[in-house]
Amino acid sequence: MVFFKNKKILVKIFKVIFLTIMLFSFIFYIYMFFSQKKEIIKSLSLEANSIANIIVYVNTDGIILNDGYKILDYSKNFMEKDKSIKSIIFSKTNEKNYVIKRDTWSYENKIDDTYTNLEKDQPSYKIIYSPILKEKVFHYVFPIIFSDTKWGWLHISVSLDKYNKLLENMYGNFIMFFLLILFIIICLSYFIAKLFAEPIIHLNEITKNIAKGQFELRSNYKSNDELGELANSFNHMLQKIELSHKELKKSNKQLKSEIQKGFRREALLIQQSRLAAMGEMIGNIAHQWRQPLSVITTAASGMKLIKELGINEDKKAEVEKLTGIINSSNYLSKTIDDFRNFFKEDKEKEYFNIKQKVEDSLRLVKDTFEFHFIKVEKNYTTDKKAYGISNEYSQALLNILSNAKDAVILNKIKEPKIKIYSFEKDNYVCLRIEDNAGGIKNNVIKKIFDPYFTTKHKSQGTGIGLYMSKVIIEQNMHGKLEVENSKEGAVFTISLPIKKNTFE
Ligand SMILES: Nc1ncnc2c1ncn2[C@@H]1O[C@H](COP(=O)(O)OP(=O)(O)O)[C@@H](O)[C@H]1O
Ligand SMILES: [Mg+2]
Repeated sequence: MVFFKNKKILVKIFKVIFLTIMLFSFIFYIYMFFSQKKEIIKSLSLEANSIANIIVYVNTDGIILNDGYKILDYSKNFMEKDKSIKSIIFSKTNEKNYVIKRDTWSYENKIDDTYTNLEKDQPSYKIIYSPILKEKVFHYVFPIIFSDTKWGWLHISVSLDKYNKLLENMYGNFIMFFLLILFIIICLSYFIAKLFAEPIIHLNEITKNIAKGQFELRSNYKSNDELGELANSFNHMLQKIELSHKELKKSNKQLKSEIQKGFRREALLIQQSRLAAMGEMIGNIAHQWRQPLSVITTAASGMKLIKELGINEDKKAEVEKLTGIINSSNYLSKTIDDFRNFFKEDKEKEYFNIKQKVEDSLRLVKDTFEFHFIKVEKNYTTDKKAYGISNEYSQALLNILSNAKDAVILNKIKEPKIKIYSFEKDNYVCLRIEDNAGGIKNNVIKKIFDPYFTTKHKSQGTGIGLYMSKVIIEQNMHGKLEVENSKEGAVFTISLPIKKNTFE
């Protein structure tokens, strides 16, 4: 049915109402049917009663005088007039009985029990199978009483034709009535179901739209029952959802722009930290190049002077000077490679040897440290490989080394010393870098990892070094970068996981 398409609740309510009404109507029908049947039999009995009265009346003489011929004659006559009467029996107490049929009659000593069972003080009737007529009949038994003495009973068997006709009529009426009632029940059930289901279907439709992201729709169902209340609170809820959805959208937008701003800030920081690292590296390069450049300059200018003076230098000395120039140039080109490697943007994670990375980084700062008389003490107690980005690890390490150098210079430490110690702890490969510059003040130590925090002069410090080192070690490599003060100075510990993180 078109009505019920996609309206499951309507169908359910309809079914319940329909079946309930049908059940009650069915019980009512059955009751009506039997009471109607009873009525028909009652009307037949009334008719039979008046016939019996007439028969007894016309036969009074014959009965009192016990004149069988008279009784027979009258009865036959009567049956001739009323074709529906099939048989008449005069059953006398303790005497013979007259059994009269349409075509014959007999004088019997005893009549069948089917008949005698119905002989009572009051008139009685029943539909029976007549043993003498061999068919079903309506049987009426009437007690014959004259001046307080019972003479006997009058039995009348009436044909069932009339009864069947009435019954047939009743069936016809019932079917018509049933169809009408069925139609009314269907209509009624549908309207009641619709009345209940409509607001629910409507709310359901709205809910579907909400799922699609439409929050503007409202239920327009108005009633002061529970369904009306439901629609009301539903609308109220929708209003709240719509409002919070709008707010969510707004804050989402804000969040997006915040994140974008954050990304931009982060990118700027990375850029700045790279520039700062490069600046420091240029300082290191300057120190590293000072010596080989002076070797080259000395050798070259010596050779030039000899050439200008026209002195004939011996070949061996000349080759020695040239070898010095070549060696120094080679050294320069090698340091360039070292620095280039250091700035390589290699983000691949790998297992790498900590000791080797420390040695590589120390080589880059060796000349700078020597220039400032900084001694480096090393102690490697593990050769376990760590998992991370080796280049970024070097950058963080150089930051820390460079800070230590700055600290010993700034505090004018007489015998500046940096102790480097590697060890293994709780599945981490750790590197401890300790200087003897006196440590970091308590109010400063809390902020050293903040971006742009520096205690150095503008031209010297950027405040990005430790922030970036922390990001590199903790976010990019799932390691730890911690700081503390020892008796001598500041202690930085870099810990990297030995095993690859299971979530990576
Ligand atoms: N070894 C150290 N000894 C004392 N103070 C230090 C040491 N390392 C870092 N600091 C402090 O932490 C601050 C932040 O360092 P960093 O982030 O590298 O920035 P910058 O070196 O540009 O100042 C430094 O300004 C300094 O005050
Ligand atoms: Mg620094």
